[in-house]
Amino acid sequence: MKLLWAVAVVLLLVALEGMAARGASRRTRRELMSPLHKGGIRDPFGSYCERRGGCCPGRDDQCTVPYLDTICYCDLFCNRTVSDCCPDFWDRCLGIPPPFIGTCERNGHTFRSGQTYKDNCNLCTCGTTGRWECEQQACLIESDMIQAVNRGNYGWRAANYSQFYGMSLDEGLRYRLGTQKPTRTIMNMNEMQMNMDPRNDNIPQYFNAAEKWPGKIHEPLDQGNCAASWAFSTAAVASDRISIQSMGHMTPQLSPQNLISCDRRNQGGCAGGRIDGAWWYLRRRGVVTEECYPFSAPQQTPAEVGRCMMQSRSVGRGKRQATAHCPSTHAYHNAIYQSTPPYRLSSNEKEIMKEIMDNGPVQAIMEVHEDFFIYTSGIYRHTDVCSTKPPQYSKHNTHSVRITGWGEERNYHGTMQKYWIAANSWGKNWGEEGYFRIARGENECEIEAFVIGVWGRVTMEDMQNHHHHGKRK
Ligand SMILES: *[C@@H]1O[C@H](CO)[C@@H](O)[C@H](O)[C@H]1NC(C)=O
Ligand SMILES: *[C@@H]1O[C@H](CO)[C@@H](O)[C@H](O)[C@H]1NC(C)=O
Repeated sequence: MKLLWAVAVVLLLVALEGMAARGASRRTRRELMSPLHKGGIRDPFGSYCERRGGCCPGRDDQCTVPYLDTICYCDLFCNRTVSDCCPDFWDRCLGIPPPFIGTCERNGHTFRSGQTYKDNCNLCTCGTTGRWECEQQACLIESDMIQAVNRGNYGWRAANYSQFYGMSLDEGLRYRLGTQKPTRTIMNMNEMQMNMDPRNDNIPQYFNAAEKWPGKIHEPLDQGNCAASWAFSTAAVASDRISIQSMGHMTPQLSPQNLISCDRRNQGGCAGGRIDGAWWYLRRRGVVTEECYPFSAPQQTPAEVGRCMMQSRSVGRGKRQATAHCPSTHAYHNAIYQSTPPYRLSSNEKEIMKEIMDNGPVQAIMEVHEDFFIYTSGIYRHTDVCSTKPPQYSKHNTHSVRITGWGEERNYHGTMQKYWIAANSWGKNWGEEGYFRIARGENECEIEAFVIGVWGRVTMEDMQNHHHHGKRK
């Protein structure tokens, strides 16, 4: 009961105060207002008093102009200890330089408060005290990280990439990857039983799918700032498998954009997606080629995904046909390609190798850490070069790639290092012509934890029909 009374009294007081404020003591409110320019004048070069048409003598609480999400004043009274003057008040009304505006130096040039420049991924602003104040985000390219990797004999080399320069680590992890970690149900998917005896199966020391199946292994694409590795890795593995299985009668480069724009059920397009959903779509709906439905890299982030331009319909016997012409006006060949259900391989290195050697590239999920972006060559292993920095410098997120082979190589210390050869989707100017090598047999970055194989749906009929336009002669 007492509490209720207390609440009622407080409410009454608040109401009375509101009434008072609307009446005589309007001034009080202005005087009590927090300083408008604490932390620097925003929009220091905007015209306010000028737009209003002039200044007001003495005190005039009506002498205001809208300023950002509030108002500023152009009366002489505004120029007191707690200023609420418009940014151009001093210039315009007093004819003197604004007192709150400091100047900062940079490369021999003078800047005023509020002016900015970009230092790698961080925005620096000239503060009111004449000092540059910079954001403190971790950037995707940090020169000390590059140097530390190259000095450390980690077995791989690092360098600057202009396409990553100026991005923050958070942006890299958000826009350059894009595979959701498989759910627990999917992770528990049965592994395929392989009847193999690792000692008797002749697994070579070096294997490269591109050498065993020339012309059938597709080159890495570039996902740009579209977080859709779920679509890129799926389309790439399916492309290679269909080409191998059809013995080169069909060598389609399947369209990631078709998946990104059309496989929308529980999928995020360029904001990430799931590989089980991608395989479902490839099996039930199928996709056309990259030539027919080309990828368009987003011009801005977060990316907008265009509407689906291409559906398929059943034409019997499990086959499907496109419902529209190719979105690309240069392409007319709109055949739909499908896959069988994917299968999960065990995490055993030898079984993964046998699968690649017998049937072609596989899809793998991996964790991408901060130092992976600057990889240029060698056998990648996640390093500890950022471990002494603040926590925002050490982050990771899930990605998916295509493993195409393996090998081994003696390192700097003379010990043998086993590696996988894998294709990324960051373009051919990244890594070893779009590929990277990563330590094998130790589940580096969890690359051996979830590996997927698949069959294309290829019939005898396909082998004949596609004979002529599979490859351009
Ligand atoms: C306005 O404020 C500045 C800085 O506090 C002061 O130097 C100046 O004399 C003031 N001008 C008037 C007209 O009050
Ligand atoms: C990286 O390259 C960009 C231009 O592509 C350049 O502006 C920048 O200074 C370079 N950064 C480092 C750390 O080398």
